[in-house]
Amino acid sequence: MSDPDGPDLTALAWPRATERLRLRPLLPADVPALHRYRSRDDVAFWLGAAAGTPEDLAARFLGPGRAGRTLVVEHDDVVVGDLMLRVQDGWAQAEVAGAAGSGEAELGWVLDPAYGGRGLATEAVRALLDVAFDGLGVRRVTASCFAANVASWRLMERVGMRREAEHVADSLHRELGWLDGLVYALLAEERRS
Ligand SMILES: CC(C)(COP(=O)(O)OP(=O)(O)OC[C@H]1O[C@@H](n2cnc3c(N)ncnc32)[C@H](O)[C@@H]1OP(=O)(O)O)[C@@H](O)C(=O)NCCC(=O)NCCS
Repeated sequence: MSDPDGPDLTALAWPRATERLRLRPLLPADVPALHRYRSRDDVAFWLGAAAGTPEDLAARFLGPGRAGRTLVVEHDDVVVGDLMLRVQDGWAQAEVAGAAGSGEAELGWVLDPAYGGRGLATEAVRALLDVAFDGLGVRRVTASCFAANVASWRLMERVGMRREAEHVADSLHRELGWLDGLVYALLAEERRS
Protein backbone atom coordinates (compact mmCIF):
# COMPACT_ATOMS: atom_id res chain seq x y z
CA MET A 1 0.00 0.00 0.00
CA SER A 2 1.11 3.54 -0.60
CA ASP A 3 1.15 6.19 2.12
CA PRO A 4 -2.54 6.58 3.17
CA ASP A 5 -2.14 10.36 2.92
CA GLY A 6 -0.71 9.97 -0.60
CA PRO A 7 2.37 11.72 -1.94
CA ASP A 8 2.66 15.25 -0.64
CA LEU A 9 2.14 17.83 -3.37
CA THR A 10 4.43 20.18 -1.51
CA ALA A 11 7.35 17.98 -2.61
CA LEU A 12 6.92 19.27 -6.20
CA ALA A 13 8.19 22.62 -7.49
CA TRP A 14 5.76 25.52 -6.94
CA PRO A 15 4.22 27.72 -8.10
CA ARG A 16 3.21 26.41 -11.53
CA ALA A 17 2.25 29.12 -13.95
CA THR A 18 -0.19 28.85 -16.85
CA GLU A 19 -1.17 31.61 -19.24
CA ARG A 20 -3.51 33.30 -16.72
CA LEU A 21 -3.06 31.38 -13.47
CA ARG A 22 -0.67 30.32 -10.77
CA LEU A 23 -1.14 27.06 -8.86
CA ARG A 24 0.45 26.40 -5.49
CA PRO A 25 -0.28 24.40 -2.32
CA LEU A 26 -2.85 25.78 0.11
CA LEU A 27 -1.54 27.92 2.97
CA PRO A 28 -3.39 28.77 6.21
CA ALA A 29 -3.63 32.39 4.99
CA ASP A 30 -5.80 31.20 2.04
CA VAL A 31 -8.63 29.96 4.25
CA PRO A 32 -10.67 33.23 4.24
CA ALA A 33 -10.60 33.26 0.41
CA LEU A 34 -11.73 29.64 0.17
CA HIS A 35 -14.41 30.30 2.75
CA ARG A 36 -15.69 33.31 0.79
CA TYR A 37 -16.61 31.35 -2.33
CA ARG A 38 -17.18 27.91 -0.80
CA SER A 39 -19.89 29.31 1.48
CA ARG A 40 -21.86 30.69 -1.50
CA ASP A 41 -25.12 28.74 -1.91
CA ASP A 42 -24.48 28.08 -5.61
CA VAL A 43 -21.08 26.55 -4.82
CA ALA A 44 -21.94 24.65 -1.62
CA PHE A 45 -24.95 23.16 -3.42
CA TRP A 46 -22.65 20.78 -5.32
CA LEU A 47 -19.87 20.19 -2.83
CA GLY A 48 -19.41 17.14 -0.64
CA ALA A 49 -19.66 19.22 2.54
CA ALA A 50 -20.89 22.68 3.47
CA ALA A 51 -18.14 25.18 4.26
CA GLY A 52 -19.10 25.72 7.90
CA THR A 53 -17.07 28.35 9.72
CA PRO A 54 -13.59 29.41 8.56
CA GLU A 55 -12.27 27.36 11.51
CA ASP A 56 -14.19 24.28 10.29
CA LEU A 57 -12.76 24.78 6.82
CA ALA A 58 -9.22 25.17 8.15
CA ALA A 59 -9.56 22.01 10.22
CA ARG A 60 -10.80 20.05 7.20
CA PHE A 61 -8.32 21.37 4.65
CA LEU A 62 -5.19 21.72 6.74
CA GLY A 63 -5.69 18.81 9.11
CA PRO A 64 -4.29 15.28 8.89
CA GLY A 65 -5.15 13.44 5.69
CA ARG A 66 -5.90 16.53 3.64
CA ALA A 67 -2.83 18.73 4.01
CA GLY A 68 -0.73 18.52 0.89
CA ARG A 69 -3.70 17.54 -1.29
CA THR A 70 -5.14 20.97 -1.98
CA LEU A 71 -3.85 23.52 -4.45
CA VAL A 72 -5.08 27.06 -4.75
CA VAL A 73 -5.58 28.79 -8.06
CA GLU A 74 -4.50 32.43 -8.27
CA HIS A 75 -5.53 34.84 -11.01
CA ASP A 76 -4.06 38.36 -10.88
CA ASP A 77 -2.80 37.55 -7.35
CA VAL A 78 -6.32 36.70 -6.12
CA VAL A 79 -7.26 33.18 -4.97
CA VAL A 80 -10.11 32.29 -7.34
CA GLY A 81 -10.40 28.56 -6.80
CA ASP A 82 -9.00 25.39 -5.35
CA LEU A 83 -8.13 21.96 -6.64
CA MET A 84 -7.92 18.57 -4.96
CA LEU A 85 -5.54 15.81 -5.96
CA ARG A 86 -5.67 12.59 -3.95
CA VAL A 87 -3.25 9.86 -4.97
CA GLN A 88 -4.43 6.34 -4.33
CA ASP A 89 -3.64 2.75 -5.20
CA GLY A 90 -5.12 1.24 -8.32
CA TRP A 91 -7.20 -1.91 -7.79
CA ALA A 92 -5.08 -5.03 -8.12
CA GLN A 93 -5.04 -8.71 -7.34
CA ALA A 94 -3.13 -9.37 -4.14
CA GLU A 95 -0.08 -10.87 -5.84
CA VAL A 96 0.51 -7.75 -7.94
CA ALA A 97 -0.76 -5.11 -5.50
CA GLY A 98 2.72 -3.64 -5.12
CA ALA A 99 2.73 -2.69 -8.79
CA ALA A 100 -0.52 -0.73 -8.45
CA GLY A 101 0.53 1.53 -5.54
CA SER A 102 0.06 5.29 -5.94
CA GLY A 103 -0.93 4.81 -9.58
CA GLU A 104 -4.14 6.79 -9.57
CA ALA A 105 -5.23 10.29 -8.67
CA GLU A 106 -8.73 11.47 -7.87
CA LEU A 107 -9.24 15.09 -8.86
CA GLY A 108 -11.66 17.77 -7.70
CA TRP A 109 -12.20 21.50 -8.32
CA VAL A 110 -14.01 24.63 -7.24
CA LEU A 111 -13.92 27.99 -8.97
CA ASP A 112 -15.33 31.19 -7.49
CA PRO A 113 -18.39 31.85 -9.71
CA ALA A 114 -17.30 35.48 -9.94
CA TYR A 115 -14.54 34.19 -12.24
CA GLY A 116 -16.61 31.54 -14.07
CA GLY A 117 -17.33 31.28 -17.77
CA ARG A 118 -13.87 32.41 -18.93
CA GLY A 119 -12.14 29.06 -19.17
CA LEU A 120 -10.14 29.58 -15.97
CA ALA A 121 -11.30 26.27 -14.43
CA THR A 122 -10.43 24.50 -17.69
CA GLU A 123 -6.97 26.05 -17.64
CA ALA A 124 -6.50 25.10 -13.97
CA VAL A 125 -7.60 21.50 -14.48
CA ARG A 126 -5.33 21.11 -17.51
CA ALA A 127 -2.47 22.17 -15.24
CA LEU A 128 -3.72 19.74 -12.60
CA LEU A 129 -3.51 16.93 -15.16
CA ASP A 130 0.11 17.96 -15.81
CA VAL A 131 0.77 17.74 -12.07
CA ALA A 132 -0.85 14.28 -11.83
CA PHE A 133 0.67 12.70 -14.93
CA ASP A 134 4.00 14.49 -15.32
CA GLY A 135 4.69 15.63 -11.75
CA LEU A 136 3.49 12.56 -9.84
CA GLY A 137 3.63 9.99 -12.62
CA VAL A 138 0.20 8.45 -12.08
CA ARG A 139 -1.22 6.21 -14.82
CA ARG A 140 -4.91 7.11 -14.42
CA VAL A 141 -6.93 10.03 -13.10
CA THR A 142 -10.58 9.98 -12.11
CA ALA A 143 -13.20 12.52 -11.10
CA SER A 144 -16.82 12.15 -10.14
CA CYS A 145 -19.84 14.40 -9.83
CA PHE A 146 -23.59 14.44 -9.64
CA ALA A 147 -24.94 13.98 -13.17
CA ALA A 148 -26.99 17.12 -12.55
CA ASN A 149 -23.78 19.14 -12.07
CA VAL A 150 -23.50 19.87 -15.76
CA ALA A 151 -20.77 22.53 -15.40
CA SER A 152 -18.51 20.00 -13.70
CA TRP A 153 -18.87 17.16 -16.21
CA ARG A 154 -18.64 19.57 -19.14
CA LEU A 155 -15.34 20.70 -17.66
CA MET A 156 -14.18 17.07 -17.51
CA GLU A 157 -15.06 16.63 -21.18
CA ARG A 158 -13.30 19.88 -22.16
CA VAL A 159 -10.05 18.60 -20.67
CA GLY A 160 -10.37 15.26 -22.49
CA MET A 161 -11.66 13.01 -19.72
CA ARG A 162 -13.81 10.08 -20.76
CA ARG A 163 -17.20 9.27 -19.22
CA GLU A 164 -16.55 5.88 -17.66
CA ALA A 165 -19.54 5.18 -15.43
CA GLU A 166 -23.08 6.40 -15.06
CA HIS A 167 -24.47 5.34 -11.70
CA VAL A 168 -28.20 5.34 -11.14
CA ALA A 169 -29.45 7.06 -7.97
CA ASP A 170 -26.24 6.26 -6.09
CA SER A 171 -25.45 9.70 -4.65
CA LEU A 172 -27.42 11.38 -1.89
CA HIS A 173 -27.76 15.15 -2.27
CA ARG A 174 -28.71 17.05 0.88
CA GLU A 175 -31.59 18.89 -0.88
CA LEU A 176 -32.43 16.85 -3.98
CA GLY A 177 -32.32 13.32 -2.56
CA TRP A 178 -30.83 10.36 -4.43
CA LEU A 179 -29.28 11.50 -7.71
CA ASP A 180 -27.40 9.82 -10.53
CA GLY A 181 -23.62 10.05 -10.37
CA LEU A 182 -20.96 10.13 -13.08
CA VAL A 183 -17.36 8.97 -13.08
CA TYR A 184 -14.87 10.27 -15.60
CA ALA A 185 -11.33 9.00 -16.15
CA LEU A 186 -8.26 9.52 -18.28
CA LEU A 187 -5.23 7.27 -18.76
CA ALA A 188 -1.73 8.65 -19.29
CA GLU A 189 -1.56 6.95 -22.67
CA GLU A 190 -4.90 8.41 -23.76
CA ARG A 191 -3.66 11.85 -22.86
CA ARG A 192 -0.45 11.39 -24.86
CA SER A 193 -2.40 10.39 -27.94
C1 LIG B 1 -17.37 23.18 -12.06
C2 LIG B 1 -16.85 24.61 -12.26
C3 LIG B 1 -15.41 24.70 -11.76
C4 LIG B 1 -16.91 24.96 -13.75
O1 LIG B 1 -16.68 26.34 -13.92
P1 LIG B 1 -16.85 27.02 -15.37
O2 LIG B 1 -16.88 28.48 -15.19
O3 LIG B 1 -17.99 26.37 -16.08
O4 LIG B 1 -15.54 26.53 -16.13
P2 LIG B 1 -14.45 27.40 -16.90
O5 LIG B 1 -13.85 28.43 -16.00
O6 LIG B 1 -13.52 26.43 -17.52
O7 LIG B 1 -15.29 28.17 -18.02
C5 LIG B 1 -15.91 27.42 -19.04
C6 LIG B 1 -16.87 28.31 -19.78
O8 LIG B 1 -16.14 29.44 -20.27
C7 LIG B 1 -16.17 29.43 -21.71
N1 LIG B 1 -14.83 29.84 -22.11
C8 LIG B 1 -14.49 31.12 -22.41
N2 LIG B 1 -13.19 31.18 -22.69
C9 LIG B 1 -12.69 29.94 -22.57
C10 LIG B 1 -11.38 29.38 -22.74
N3 LIG B 1 -10.34 30.14 -23.07
N4 LIG B 1 -11.21 28.05 -22.53
C11 LIG B 1 -12.26 27.27 -22.18
N5 LIG B 1 -13.51 27.74 -22.01
C12 LIG B 1 -13.74 29.08 -22.20
C13 LIG B 1 -16.56 28.00 -22.08
O9 LIG B 1 -17.20 27.96 -23.35
C14 LIG B 1 -17.50 27.64 -20.97
O10 LIG B 1 -18.74 28.26 -21.18
P3 LIG B 1 -20.10 27.40 -21.29
O11 LIG B 1 -20.24 26.67 -19.97
O12 LIG B 1 -21.13 28.42 -21.52
O13 LIG B 1 -19.87 26.46 -22.42
C15 LIG B 1 -17.72 25.62 -11.47
O14 LIG B 1 -19.02 25.57 -11.99
C16 LIG B 1 -17.78 25.38 -9.98
O15 LIG B 1 -16.83 25.64 -9.25
N6 LIG B 1 -18.94 24.87 -9.50
C17 LIG B 1 -19.18 24.71 -8.05
C18 LIG B 1 -18.30 23.68 -7.42
C19 LIG B 1 -18.39 22.35 -8.11
O16 LIG B 1 -19.43 21.96 -8.63
N7 LIG B 1 -17.29 21.61 -8.08
C20 LIG B 1 -17.24 20.28 -8.64
C21 LIG B 1 -17.85 19.30 -7.74
S1 LIG B 1 -17.88 17.69 -8.51
